[in-house]
Amino acid sequence: MKKIRLGVNIDHVATLRNARNDDFPDLLSVSKILKNVGVNNITVHLREDRRHIKDDDVRSLKNENILPLNLEMAATKEMKNFSLEILPSACCIVPERREELTTEGGLDVRNQMNYLNEFLPALNNKTQVSLFVDPDPDQIKAAKELGVSAVELHTGKYSNLFKKNNFHSELEKIKKSAEYCSKIGLNCHAGHGLNFENVKNISLIDEIIELNVGHFLISNAIFVGLEKTIEKFMKIINHPKSK
Ligand code: PXP
Repeated sequence: MKKIRLGVNIDHVATLRNARNDDFPDLLSVSKILKNVGVNNITVHLREDRRHIKDDDVRSLKNENILPLNLEMAATKEMKNFSLEILPSACCIVPERREELTTEGGLDVRNQMNYLNEFLPALNNKTQVSLFVDPDPDQIKAAKELGVSAVELHTGKYSNLFKKNNFHSELEKIKKSAEYCSKIGLNCHAGHGLNFENVKNISLIDEIIELNVGHFLISNAIFVGLEKTIEKFMKIINHPKSK
């Protein structure tokens, strides 16, 4: 049986922490939990507006080296310089628009070949680069031409269609794209919007070797952890008073 690598995106832990401008919940403690349960990578997206992960978070995750670090970032000069300073184990290039809630589509690699041809070599020499693309063979072919080691297939559309039980043709595109990656010698990762219900179909695709999952895993931790947390709190506040 193949074992798929799991990268957990901890951006939303940082969002909670930032709500109080404090250091709780702290990313390093969370990373240790992830390591203990067998997660393979920590994924963080350093956005232009630093809305969740901050530069120093990336530095300390890299320095503490609890798990290999996968840095998601836009293809900007600022991010490239930062990545070359930090040298994460992997770097996933994503499209980024300031006003979006999350990464809303794949990178248009084909239409940015000239720019990416200039942009990528320094990163390709220092780390494992993947490009976050829609499940489209032409985008995958363009990624291969740029010499990256992997693509991450955007599963957001599939995840949305899954809710409407109308996902079969999108799943087929993901399968065909994964097969194409294998045929041309590109590692195939996938991620976005995955959860307990929709991930099975994706995990059955042989060529997909890594998943990156964030929002669902961090959110579901509320449902498995809230009861225990409240119970502990109630024990503390209802402790018999010593006279
Ligand atoms: N992969 C990439 C490239 C992403 O941008 C994101 C979202 O930050 C994810 C995976 C994880 O998506 P989700 O939070 O929906 O699981």
